Amino acid sequence: MDKSPLIAVLAGDGIGPEVVREAVACLREVIEDAEFVDAPVGGASYDLHGTPLTEATLDLAKRADAVLLGAVGGPKWEPLDFSVRPERALLGLREGLGLYANLRPAVVYPGLAAASSLRAEIVTGIDLLVVRELTGGIYFGKPRGVVMEHGERVGINTERYSESEIRRIAVCAFEVARKRRRKLTSVDKANVLEATELWREIVSTVGKAYPDVSLSHMYVDNCAMQLVRDPSQFDVIVTTNLFGDILSDEAAMLTGSIGMLASASLAGLGAPGGLYEPVHGSAPDIAGQGKANPLATILSAAMLLRYSLGREDAARRIEGAVARVLDAGLRTPDIAPRDATGAGRVTIVGTQEMGARVRKAMKEL
Ligand code: NAD
Ligand code: IPM
Ligand code: MN
Repeated sequence: MDKSPLIAVLAGDGIGPEVVREAVACLREVIEDAEFVDAPVGGASYDLHGTPLTEATLDLAKRADAVLLGAVGGPKWEPLDFSVRPERALLGLREGLGLYANLRPAVVYPGLAAASSLRAEIVTGIDLLVVRELTGGIYFGKPRGVVMEHGERVGINTERYSESEIRRIAVCAFEVARKRRRKLTSVDKANVLEATELWREIVSTVGKAYPDVSLSHMYVDNCAMQLVRDPSQFDVIVTTNLFGDILSDEAAMLTGSIGMLASASLAGLGAPGGLYEPVHGSAPDIAGQGKANPLATILSAAMLLRYSLGREDAARRIEGAVARVLDAGLRTPDIAPRDATGAGRVTIVGTQEMGARVRKAMKEL
């Protein structure tokens, strides 16, 4: 990149600012010339401007080389009308920036298998990637809303996918599968939903151009079960917006905690821009206590370096540092071992200490 990169920092609500602070500090270690510009989003933006996503914040996100986001939402804003709820900001950013491809890697780091709710032998060595379609499906389909019919209210949402929407996310999934273990599972509910019957057909057609990638199809209910039965069978999973939302939270628990799951939202592989955020939310139950796990956001910053700034070396330095602090036994409470057997070998730390130790390890790498 010739000019110094512009990074929009949208910390948001709850633990968002706590974890984003640590991730920005990690980015500053590796990119000396970047310009970081803060802007409000979500509930924080609503409190200031009466809307979760202002034109100014959306405009900054469009101009930026990359966006780093914390999390939005919380009980304070739950009574608000749907149209101004903090979560709408995420949908507005995804739609406004055309971020249709959401990559959510679930990697079980050595030593963290004991933090998973599944037996260690089931999750050890897991390295899978959920490719979630992010700007279509039931999240955006119309008609939607709550209407009066025959004297009662009826809630409506619509699952819809065009061929071109399916094709572009399928291409993205095949391309990333090609760089991994060349195994792609497309997840749908083609036995019941026509929209995903079309999904299955188009993914199969796209697959003809990728004979080196082995493609299989799986119903979403079976996939939810297979993820906890034998997650090692998966390499890349490609699926719709709603199914991807649910399956990626499920995959998070394989890794020990949702506090470990990073994500990249892209307007296609290699496209300029991109939004990076942890998969978790604003965690109101632990906000302000300094104990949130910052690693999902720090690992999202590594993805930002890789996909938006072309800095693979720097991305690996962050990922290597995360592996190192985990090897050294550092744990935030969410990734502490679940039974006493592993407890003696770990040190429980808070958000800031975890961030500081990652940066220290980065300096040593
Ligand atoms: P959540 O992910 O915020 O929390 C679920 C559980 O995981 C909580 O017990 C929380 O303490 C824990 N957790 C989450 N992140 C953690 C971390 N980094 N370290 C340690 N523990 C962590 O999900 P929720 O409770 O369903 O939602 C809370 C709010 O966040 C809601 O308003 C929701 O709409 C919003 N939300 C936002 C995003 C986002 O901004 N991308 C994603 C999901 C939920
Ligand atoms: C996520 C979140 C969002 C989603 C919500 C908060 C709008 O759960 O990023 O996974 O459903 O996409
Ligand atoms: Mn989610």
